[in-house]
Amino acid sequence: MALSKKSVMAALLLLLLITSQGKSSVQSIGVNYGKIADDLPPATEVIALYKTSGIGKMRIFDPNQATLQALKGSGISVIVGVVNNDLQGLATSPAAANGWVQTNISPYLPDVNISYIAAGNEIKPSDPLAQYVGPAMQNLYNAVTSSNLPTQIKVSTVIDMSLMGNTYPPSSGSFSDNASAYINAIASFLVSTKAPLLANVYPYFAYLSDPTTDIKLDYALLNSSGVVVQDGNLGYQNLFDAMMDSLYSALEKIGAANLTVIVTETGWPSDGGVAATVDNAGTYYKNLMSHVNNGTPKRPGPLETYLFALFDEDQKGPAETEKHFGLFSPTKQPKYQLSFS
Ligand SMILES: *[C@@H]1O[C@H](CO)[C@@H](O)[C@H](O)[C@H]1NC(C)=O
Ligand SMILES: *[C@@H]1O[C@H](CO)[C@@H](O)[C@H](O)[C@H]1NC(C)=O
Ligand SMILES: *[C@@H]1O[C@H](CO)[C@@H](O)[C@H](O)[C@H]1NC(C)=O
Ligand SMILES: *[C@@H]1O[C@H](CO)[C@@H](O)[C@H](O)[C@H]1NC(C)=O
Repeated sequence: MALSKKSVMAALLLLLLITSQGKSSVQSIGVNYGKIADDLPPATEVIALYKTSGIGKMRIFDPNQATLQALKGSGISVIVGVVNNDLQGLATSPAAANGWVQTNISPYLPDVNISYIAAGNEIKPSDPLAQYVGPAMQNLYNAVTSSNLPTQIKVSTVIDMSLMGNTYPPSSGSFSDNASAYINAIASFLVSTKAPLLANVYPYFAYLSDPTTDIKLDYALLNSSGVVVQDGNLGYQNLFDAMMDSLYSALEKIGAANLTVIVTETGWPSDGGVAATVDNAGTYYKNLMSHVNNGTPKRPGPLETYLFALFDEDQKGPAETEKHFGLFSPTKQPKYQLSFS
C-alpha cells in the first residue's frame, strides 16, 4: 500500500516535471502583432488565431483599444508599446504619463495579462526623441507604481543592434561611443527598477550586410551542425547566440551584467531580397523556436523571444522584404509548419 502510494507520488512528480518543462518551452515564445497593412482580420479573429495556434505571448506596437478589449480573458500575455511620437509628451508631463496609464492599462486589468510597457521602439541616439526615452520611462514607472498596479508590469524600451560598436567576437561586444550616454541612462533605470531590456535582434540583417564572406547562411539560419566561432571557452553554432552574447558583453562593460534581455523581435523574410525564401525563413523560425529555451552559451536558460511577425504587412517598406516577415498570410494561412505547443 505504502509502496504503491510512493510510486503514484513518483509518477505524479515526473508528470509534473514533464508538463512544467513542456510549458516553459512554449512560454519562451511570443509573436508580434503588427498591423501596417490594409487587409488584416479584426482583432477578435487575431486573438482566436493566437489561441488555436497555441501562442501564449503577444507584443503590440501601440495600445490599440480593440486589441486590448479582445485580449480580455484570453490568458495571452501582452507587451504594450508606447508609440515614438508620444514619448515627448509623456517625458515632459507626469500627468500625461498618468493619463496614458489610466487610459491604456488600468481599464484592462486584471482581465488582460500585461507584462511590460515598452516606451519607444528602436530610437537611435541621434534621434531628437532620444532625450525623451529615459524621462518617459521614469514618468510611466511612477504612474504604474502610484496607481497601485501590479508591480509585475515593468516599464522598459526597445533597442536595436545599431547601438553596438563591436559584436565580434561576442566577448568583445561593446556599445558604440555614440550610443553610450543613451544606453547608460536606459540601463541604469532598468537595473534600479528590476526591469528587463527589450532588444530587436535580426541575424538576417547582419547576414545581409555581409552575405558572401564572413557569415555563412547556415550560421545565420541556426542550421550549422558544429561550432563555427570559438571565443575563449565558448563555442558558437549560430549567429543569433553570437549577437545576443555580444549584447550581454556590452551590458557587462557598462555595469549592467544583471539585466535580463528579452528579444522583442526576430525573424526572417520569405521573399523580396537576398536569401529571402520560404525555405530559409521556415528553417530560421523552426530552429530558433527549438533553440531559445536553452539560452545562449553565455546565458544558458530560457530566453523570452518574440517572433516577427504574425502577418505579412503589405504597407511596410521601403525594402520589399519588410512586407514578407509574416508567419501567416492575411487570410490566416500558415506559411510554415511551426509548432507552438
Ligand atoms: C502573465 O504572463 C506572465 C508572462 O507571460 C506569466 O508568467 C504569468 O503566469 C501570467 N499570469 C497569469 C495570471 O496568467
Ligand atoms: C555618431 O553621431 C554622429 C553625429 O550625430 C553621426 O554623424 C555619426 O554617423 C554617428 N556614428 C555612428 C557610428 O552612429
Ligand atoms: C548580479 O550580479 C552579481 C555579480 O555578477 C551576482 O553576484 C548577483 O547574484 C546578481 N544579482 C542578481 C539579482 O542577479
Ligand atoms: C538545414 O539543415 C538541414 C540538415 O543539414 C538541411 O537538410 C536543410 O536543407 C538546411 N536548410 C537550409 C534552408 O539550408
